[in-house]
Amino acid sequence: MIPGDFQIKKPTGKQMAKFGALGVVSLGMFVGVAIGLTWMISAWLGRPVVFGYSEGPTQPIAFPHTTHVQELGLNCLFCHRNVTEGAAATIPSAGLCIACHKVMGDGLEEVEKLRDYVADNRPIDWVRVHRVPDHVRFVHEAHIRRFSGVKTVVEEWTNLKNPDVANEIRFGEALRINPNAAVGQTLEISEAQVCSVCHGNVGGMTKVEQVRPLKMGDCVDCHRDNAAPTDCTTCHF
Ligand code: HEC
Ligand code: HEC
Ligand code: HEC
Ligand code: HEC
Ligand code: HEC
Repeated sequence: MIPGDFQIKKPTGKQMAKFGALGVVSLGMFVGVAIGLTWMISAWLGRPVVFGYSEGPTQPIAFPHTTHVQELGLNCLFCHRNVTEGAAATIPSAGLCIACHKVMGDGLEEVEKLRDYVADNRPIDWVRVHRVPDHVRFVHEAHIRRFSGVKTVVEEWTNLKNPDVANEIRFGEALRINPNAAVGQTLEISEAQVCSVCHGNVGGMTKVEQVRPLKMGDCVDCHRDNAAPTDCTTCHF
C-alpha cells in the first residue's frame, strides 16, 4: 500500500445493520409522504387517482330513473321529499313505490323483487352513489333555495362587490341547468331543476352515476364564485 493512500474503512456488521435500518425507514417515510401528497392533491382536485368515476353501483333493485322521470313525468321532489327542507335528500321508502306497484308492472322481474321486499317487510338497502366523508357537512336545502327561482343569466356578477344572488345566476351554473342558456336570458328555475347543477341529468339515467367531483376543491370553487362562505367551519364540524 502506498503511504498516504486513503482507504475507506470497511464498515462493521453493526454499522451495516444501522445503514440498512436507516434505508428502510427513509424509504418508508418517502413512500408515506408520496401517498399522503397524492391523497391530498386528489382530495383537493377531486380527481380520483386510483379508481376514477365508473358507472354507478348495482342496486338491489334495478330502479330506472328514466321510466319514472322521463316517461311518467314524476318530479324529483315527489320521491326525494326532504331535499328542500334539510341536509339529506332521502330515498323514498318501499311504501311509496308499492302505492303504484301493487297494480303496476305485473310480470316485470324487478317489480316482483320490489313486491317480495314489501311482502317480507324487508328494507331495501340502496347502495349510496354520492357521499361526503363524516367530517364534512353538506346541506341540500341551502343549495336548492339559492339556485331556484326567477334569475337573469349573467356572465359575471353585475356588481362584483355585492352580487345580486337573489335575481342573478352565473352562466356556468345556468348551463348545467339548461344547456341552451344564454347570457341576458331570464330563466324560471324550479327546485327540481337545481339537482342537475351537481348530479347531471339523473332523469336520463337508468343507473345513477356521479358526474361531478364534489370534492373540497369543487365545493370551495363554487362557494367562492357564488359569494358563499369559504371558511373551514362552513363545511367541517
Ligand atoms: C319514483 C321515485 C324517484 C323519483 C321520481 C326520482 N328518484 Fe332519485 N332515486 C330514487 C331511488 C329509489 C334511488 C336509489 C336507487 C338508485 O340510486 O338508483 C334514487 C337515487 C337518486 C340519486 C343517487 C343517490 C345516492 O345514493 O347518491 C340521485 C342523485 C337522485 N336519485 C336524484 C334524482 C333526481 C335529480 C330526480 C329528478 C330528475 C330523481 N332522483 C327522481 C327514487 C326516485
Ligand atoms: C306513480 C307511480 C309509480 C311510483 C310511485 C313508482 N313507480 Fe316504478 N313504475 C311505474 C310504472 C308505470 C312503471 C312501468 C311499468 C311497465 O312498464 O309496465 C314502473 C316501472 C318500474 C320498474 C321496472 C322497470 C323496467 O322496465 O323493468 C321498477 C324496477 C320500478 N318501477 C321500481 C320502482 C321503485 C323501486 C319505486 C319506488 C322508489 C317505484 N318504482 C315507484 C310507476 C311507479
Ligand atoms: C350543490 C350540489 C348538490 C345539489 C344542487 C344537489 N345535490 Fe344531492 N348530493 C350532493 C352531495 C354532495 C351529496 C352527498 C351528501 C352526503 O354524503 O351527505 C348528495 C347526495 C344526494 C342523495 C343521496 C343522499 C341523500 O341525501 O339522501 C340524493 C338522493 C340526492 N343527493 C338527490 C338530490 C336531488 C333530488 C337534488 C335536487 C332537488 C339534489 N340532490 C341537489 C350534492 C348536491
Ligand atoms: C354549484 C355551486 C356549489 C357547490 C358545487 C357546492 N356549494 Fe355549498 N353552497 C353554495 C352556495 C351558493 C351556498 C350559499 C347558500 C345560501 O345562500 O344560503 C352554499 C352553502 C353551503 C353550506 C351552508 C349551508 C347553511 O347552513 O346555510 C354548506 C354547509 C355547504 N354549502 C357545503 C357544501 C359542500 C360540502 C359542498 C361539496 C360537497 C358544496 N357545498 C358544494 C354553492 C355550492
Ligand atoms: C365548501 C366546503 C368546504 C370548505 C369551505 C372546506 N372544506 Fe375541507 N373538505 C371538503 C370536502 C367535501 C372534503 C372531502 C373531500 C373528499 O371527498 O375526500 C374536505 C376534506 C378536507 C380534509 C381532508 C382531506 C381528505 O382527503 O379528506 C381536510 C384536512 C380539509 N378538508 C381541511 C379544510 C380546511 C383547513 C379548510 C379551511 C381552509 C376547509 N377544509 C374548507 C369541503 C370543504
